[in-house]
Amino acid sequence: IKSDVLIIGSNMMDLITYIDRMPIEGETVEAPDFEMGFGGKGANQAVAAARLGSRVSMITKVGNDAFGQQQLTNFKDNKIDVSGVGIGTKSSGVAPIFVSKSSNNSIIIIKGANNELTPDDLQANIEIIKNAKIIVLENEIPLETNYAAIDLAQEFGIPILLNPAPARKDLDLEYVKKVDYFAPNETELATLTGLPASNLDEIKVAAHDMVSLGVKHMIVTLGSRGVLSVTDQDEQLINALKVDAVDTTGAGDSIIGAFAHYLAEGKNELDALNLANQYAAMTVTRRGTQKSYPTKAEVEAHYQH
Ligand code: RIB
Ligand code: NA
Repeated sequence: IKSDVLIIGSNMMDLITYIDRMPIEGETVEAPDFEMGFGGKGANQAVAAARLGSRVSMITKVGNDAFGQQQLTNFKDNKIDVSGVGIGTKSSGVAPIFVSKSSNNSIIIIKGANNELTPDDLQANIEIIKNAKIIVLENEIPLETNYAAIDLAQEFGIPILLNPAPARKDLDLEYVKKVDYFAPNETELATLTGLPASNLDEIKVAAHDMVSLGVKHMIVTLGSRGVLSVTDQDEQLINALKVDAVDTTGAGDSIIGAFAHYLAEGKNELDALNLANQYAAMTVTRRGTQKSYPTKAEVEAHYQH
């Protein structure tokens, strides 16, 4: 199998509750609305790239349960190659998500079967890995699996992007230095560097700090502030487009998936980031995670490319 974009990552069932406010301990509150949808950072990235027209393969593990079957069907519905999808022994990954009135989200993840994706699973799918144009990783699968994927990508000379979400302090810098694109959001950047990252100046300092430690290319997703790209040669801030956000869940994943798609399509890095930024802007104007990701045709109609 030859894929444009290979996602080695997670899948989750998103249980999205739209809340007026969070309950405090011991309290019951009523929330106005609920929706279930397909999520998981890896699967989200895969679906974004696939809807834009990339041939996408996914290496992941679903649970041996109803959600697992639904995930498989969802991948197929999105034309994603599932030959690298295994079935684990734990439950499928689930993510209770709370979306506030200001359209921001708080997420709990239960990784379940995603935690059972091992380096052996990569070996079992080595043909998919060898033949990918770009590989994307995030932190909802075991770190050792990500490290194994980075080693394989290097061995085969395939560009690799690591989105360190959720943040892990124990992420090994030696591996971060090996990836071509390292793409945290500002919170993850702060956790990883131990530096403040609450305003743009601080974020730039922290991103340059990682570059000075040997990280090749920092791509920091900044939500309503856009995306910052930093290498030792260059710094670019791509402003977010002004939109009426209703649900930002999965917007960061959509940028990463779209960026990988445009790179695989042959765009240069800056063009790919600009287009990915436009893609993400559309997703926040719609509710849900993957559900809110537009197709290539919708993007073209919207921006009149
Ligand atoms: O980034 C958003 C995603 O994080 C959600 O889809 C949820 O499943 C968690 O993985
Ligand atoms: Na959305």
